[in-house]
Amino acid sequence: MLEIVFSNGRIGAKIVKIIGVAEGAKINSDLLAKEDVALIKKQAADCRFDGKLGRVMETYGKSGRILVIGLGKKPAELSLQNAGGALASKLFNDEVAAYYVEKIKGCNLNEEQIAHNLAFGLLLGTYRFDKYFTTKKPEEYPNLERVIFKVKNPAEVNENFKNYAALANAVRYGRDLCNEPANYLTPEVFADDIKRLEYLGLDVDVLDYKALKQNDFACLLSVAQGSEKEPRVAVIKWKGNPNSDKWELGLVGKGVTFDSGGISIKPSSGMEEMKQDMTGAAVVVASMKALALQCAHKNVVGVVGLVENMPSGSAVKPGDVVTSMSGQTVEIINTDAEGRLVLADCLWYIQKEFAVNKLIDVATLTGATARALGNEYAGIFANDDALANDLIDAGERSGERLWRLPISEGYNKMINSDFADMKNIGGVSAGGSTAACFLQRFVKPEVKWAHLDIAGVDAEKKGRPICPKGATAFGIRLINQYLR
Ligand code: BES
Ligand code: MN
Ligand code: ZN
Repeated sequence: MLEIVFSNGRIGAKIVKIIGVAEGAKINSDLLAKEDVALIKKQAADCRFDGKLGRVMETYGKSGRILVIGLGKKPAELSLQNAGGALASKLFNDEVAAYYVEKIKGCNLNEEQIAHNLAFGLLLGTYRFDKYFTTKKPEEYPNLERVIFKVKNPAEVNENFKNYAALANAVRYGRDLCNEPANYLTPEVFADDIKRLEYLGLDVDVLDYKALKQNDFACLLSVAQGSEKEPRVAVIKWKGNPNSDKWELGLVGKGVTFDSGGISIKPSSGMEEMKQDMTGAAVVVASMKALALQCAHKNVVGVVGLVENMPSGSAVKPGDVVTSMSGQTVEIINTDAEGRLVLADCLWYIQKEFAVNKLIDVATLTGATARALGNEYAGIFANDDALANDLIDAGERSGERLWRLPISEGYNKMINSDFADMKNIGGVSAGGSTAACFLQRFVKPEVKWAHLDIAGVDAEKKGRPICPKGATAFGIRLINQYLR
């Protein structure tokens, strides 16, 4: 992983130097040689470099190779993160680079904030998932080892970077989990991986098949029963506030390691994307990892349901009725609406075992929400306005944005069944809302609850500065921002 250094030291001649410029601002630098600044200005005019966000101009001057990066109009934290991500691709062949942090025109961020956000963007933008390539040559891999941020006050900037570094580490970990193919990342392997996080001071309990049976995870087990792979549930505890024995927040994640649809099998085109149907679980696990790395003074508990949804002779069938842990019965109409079955028991379990009064679940739950919001926003459904608004606010600040969608008695009625307390799908319309109403039936009314449907935002199709193609692990930065 890329090394980030904050220093006030001398930058050698062979190291590529970087300065940033806001859109429309005059190019200047007190740190580069005067001749070089003059050269850059001339070149900028020649190639119409205007400081647009992410645009990079390259110069060779007295100080060696220099990159000028556009920081966009009124640079703010998120635009600087994106600029950092854009730099990542430009530095593909360099081993070491140095960014000269200077005041930005029209931007009220200080030296520390500028450096932190650029560095954070670099750490996310350099993420790669390339472990399964066997014929790539060394020159096809990024060469970048270290980026030095030249700042006036390195000790302080360095100390305060720890939270960002922890978060970047967690996001990269979350993406690794999501990108991993389902033949490797089975529920059991996933659970073992989570257990390994105990080295950070997290407390992890893994419930195996027997324990799940004993604890009445019948809805979750109905999803798992068509697969050869045994399900698991992992319970992850971070007790960062020893002065309190209360849990401030419960997190629940959908961890369907592969969703074929089961007997209601999905069309084959694009089915490979369903290896990422465990993103909710990855986001919960990585969020717990972030808290531990940050030594956060909070008590948070996470529960993730890990199952594979497959068709087979033993698979659950449309028309089957199962009794959830809560005692409510569910008629399964469509075995592809499996995420809510997994979550139902996990939601019930976390409320029963940990007496949480605030609960957030994260799931790649419905194509309907994905179609409604595309990959611009994830859907949020909540029974509490304050919680919803706080999360929406955290989304705006972290760049992982949420749009609130409704739950109502009308939608709730759509999942009433003729044969059981409820059925697992509503009608053809409002699929995101009926799914959320299903979940709400497993949330105690006094518990403040929000459901994040991330089905449209879990994968990056084109590749962006801070996320290459593949898993985004959307939600980790948002949850961390919410908790901070
Ligand atoms: N995992 C899918 C939802 C999904 C769709 C995630 C696209 C990411 C991208 C979920 O389990 C599912 O299959 N939902 C169905 C529910 C339907 C059968 C009521 C859907 O949305 O089509
Ligand atoms: Mn499904
Ligand atoms: Zn699914």
